[in-house]
This record gives sequence, C-alpha cells and structure tokens, in this order.
Amino acid sequence: MSIVVTAATGQLGRLVVERLLARGVPAGDVLATARRPEALADLEAQGVRVAGLDYDDVDDEVLSSGDVLLLVSSSTPGIRVPQHENVIRAAARAGVARIVYTSAPAADDTDLVLAPEHAATERLLEESGLPYTFLRNGWYTENYQPAFEQARATGTVVASVGDGRVASAPRADFADAAAVVLSETGHENAVYELSGDHAWDFDELAAAFTDALGKPVSYERVSPERHLEILKDAGLDDGTAGFVVALDQNLAAGLLAVTTGDLARLIGRPTVPLAETVATW
Ligand SMILES: NC(=O)c1ccc[n+]([C@@H]2O[C@H](COP(=O)([O-])OP(=O)(O)OC[C@H]3O[C@@H](n4cnc5c(N)ncnc54)[C@H](OP(=O)(O)O)[C@@H]3O)[C@@H](O)[C@H]2O)c1
Repeated sequence: MSIVVTAATGQLGRLVVERLLARGVPAGDVLATARRPEALADLEAQGVRVAGLDYDDVDDEVLSSGDVLLLVSSSTPGIRVPQHENVIRAAARAGVARIVYTSAPAADDTDLVLAPEHAATERLLEESGLPYTFLRNGWYTENYQPAFEQARATGTVVASVGDGRVASAPRADFADAAAVVLSETGHENAVYELSGDHAWDFDELAAAFTDALGKPVSYERVSPERHLEILKDAGLDDGTAGFVVALDQNLAAGLLAVTTGDLARLIGRPTVPLAETVATW
C-alpha cells in the first residue's frame, strides 16, 4: 500500500511529495509517478519509489490494492475528462482505497469557465464507487507571476476584473492540504473548498507589487472588449485571449473570492498572504 502521486514532475505534484516526506511519511511508502519518470531521479535518490503513469495510457501494473491516490488534474484542457477517466478506471481495477482529486471551486455549481471538466471528473469519481476526496483548489497566487513581470516592465497591472476579488493561496499551501488528506484518515467522501484566507482586490495586488518592486505600480481597469484588444495586440491568439478575458469576468463575478476557511483548517495554520508570496518573486 502506497501513497501515489500523479504528475509528480509538475509544480504541485512535486510539492505534495516533498510535503508528504516533511510530514514524516516514509519515502518508501510514497510512489511518485509521471509520464516522464526519468525526471524524478532526485526523488528516487531520496528513497521515493518512482514509476511511469501517463493519463493517456495507464499501465495496470502501477496501482495496487489499498493505495491512496492523488490524481492531479491534467494540464491539457479539452481532453482532461477522458484522461482522468483512464486513471479512475485503472484505480478501480486495482482496488485503490481512495482517490484524492484536485478540482475547482464549487465545481458542480458555478459558471467558472474551467469548471465543467472538473465537475465531470467529480461525477466519474462518485460513479466509480471508490472513496474519494475532492480538493476544490482555488487560485494559486503564482498565477500572478506573469502580471508581476509585466508590472516590473510597465508599472501597471491591466485587467478587466473591475472590483473583483481573488482568495488565492500559494501552491505550497494547496500541496500541504493534499499531503494532509493523503496521509490521514477521516477524509473519505469529503469535499473541501480550498482558498486563501483573504480575498484581495487588484488595488491590493498592485500595492503588493509596488512594495516588492520598490516602484509604483497601479491597477489599470479596462473593459472586457478593450482587454481582448490589448491581449491580441500582445500576440495572443483569439482563443487564448478570449479565455483570459472570460476568466477575468469570472473573477469580476466573485467566483474565486469565496473564503471558507477549509484550507487553513486542513493545514492547521493561516494561509500565506499575497504580499508575503509576492515578496519572494
Ligand atoms: N488552481 C490553479 O490556480 C491552477 C492553475 C494552473 C493549473 N491548475 C491545475 O492544477 C494542476 C497542477 O498544477 P501545476 O501548477 O502543478 O501544473 P504544472 O506545473 O503545469 O504540471 C502539470 C503536470 O501535469 C502533467 N501531465 C500533463 N499531461 C499528462 C499526462 N498525459 N499524463 C501524466 N501527467 C501529465 C505534467 O507532466 P509533464 O511534466 O510530463 O508535462 C505535469 O507534471 C494543473 O495540471 C491544472 O490542472 C490549477
């Protein structure tokens, strides 16, 4: 029986493995998987077991009866549901004890443009009959690192979120929560709405950038139409630009501003504030 982490070459997956070890889980009880397991040599050197697991073609030998599996949502929107289904079916065949899935806020009841694939995956997990834990992860603070670099260059943060707020937390906080629910019992069929403790607005984001950069940064509010033009002028294709603007409208509607306290409760400490994370960039 192992704690199995998928996508361990990714930023979240790697942090989860590190947090499991930091929580005292023996390295030999952790199976880190990825489609490029050779990229996990440093974890293997620490005694973590390593195997290949590709969402597009899951090898039945990888998972075992009694495993607790973290299924990190795939990074390829559009094909995530069949990819996740491959993993869930393999897990059911192997008889894993529980699947922990990284979902999206209020996945089954939200207009968030990213949510439908997460909601479909949650349904597949419910239908699988396997015990599950849904980690409905809110926004990573790191999503604003490109905006930080833009602010460094231009002194502005351009967005069409209006007065929208974002209850973000750093990836490491979400990884901590995953490590807790993977290594403890009592999270069977639980749904956690994970977010930072404070929902900040874009004036606060600009202020955090100002402090970290040591130069004034202001928030430039633009209409969705103007935002689309700016992004296309910057070289984004129509689909990507439209997606970014649609997400900003989700933020404007407050869909990523909900603060339930679930994340702080799971990790047993307050989430790391926006300014503290930005100061490390
Ligand atoms: N909450 C948020 O703000 C937020 C933001 C961005 C993404 N996400 C979601 O959260 C997930 C984890 O975030 P992250 O920051 O760790 O993303 P990331 O650093 O981009 O990592 C994505 C991981 O998915 C793996 N992957 C992609 N296709 C795969 C396949 N066919 N089989 C196996 N593994 C595959 C990648 O493997 P390779 O190393 O082989 O490419 C990589 O390990 C993302 O995949 C996405 O679903 C959430």
